[in-house]
Amino acid sequence: MPAEVRLRPMTAADLPAVAAIEAAGHPTPRATQAFADDLALDHARLWVAARGAEILGFIDYWVVAGEVELIDVAVAPAARRQGLGRRLVEHLRADVPEATAVHLEVRAGNAPAIALYRGLGFVEVGRRRRYYADGEDALLLSWSSASDGGPSAS
Ligand SMILES: CC(C)(COP(=O)(O)OP(=O)(O)OC[C@H]1O[C@@H](n2cnc3c(N)ncnc32)[C@H](O)[C@@H]1OP(=O)(O)O)[C@@H](O)C(=O)NCCC(=O)NCCS
Repeated sequence: MPAEVRLRPMTAADLPAVAAIEAAGHPTPRATQAFADDLALDHARLWVAARGAEILGFIDYWVVAGEVELIDVAVAPAARRQGLGRRLVEHLRADVPEATAVHLEVRAGNAPAIALYRGLGFVEVGRRRRYYADGEDALLLSWSSASDGGPSAS
């Protein structure tokens, strides 16, 4: 029977697998060092979804002044559409139940991610024109406890 997928804190040993998932998920992936830098930050929290030794996805978010900035979330291509992306974002909200808001930026053309976030109660609050190096716009999405009744509502 295949082992269960568990969420656990990311460690430096996970960085090669995390970087591979990042590279498969983004046209302009973050450098491995960016994850290493976040691991050293007090206000950053990084988790992986792992089945045994295999890393299937990750999430990286910052908790600042009662609000959360979702820096990055990605799932390995072969593990997508199985609920892992949703589980990782729901984990964020359960991990920081006191958060009054969660903010993120997403490429305007990233339909899978936008559908994931909308399904979890995020709404569009702005757009940054030509935000990414290749000229694509960023959408600013936010989830607010005031409009969603809290993390347990999802
Ligand atoms: C976005 C991403 C994390 C979603 O992960 P996932 O594990 O496939 O998502 P889930 O299986 O939890 O899907 C949750 C919901 O998201 C939406 N969704 C996910 N993938 C989708 C797709 N390809 N097309 C349309 N909707 C999609 C659906 O609403 C889905 O709910 P449903 O399965 O009940 O229809 C994944 O596609 C990914 O890693 N993409 C590359 C990295 C990325 O873009 N990250 C976001 C950075 S802002």
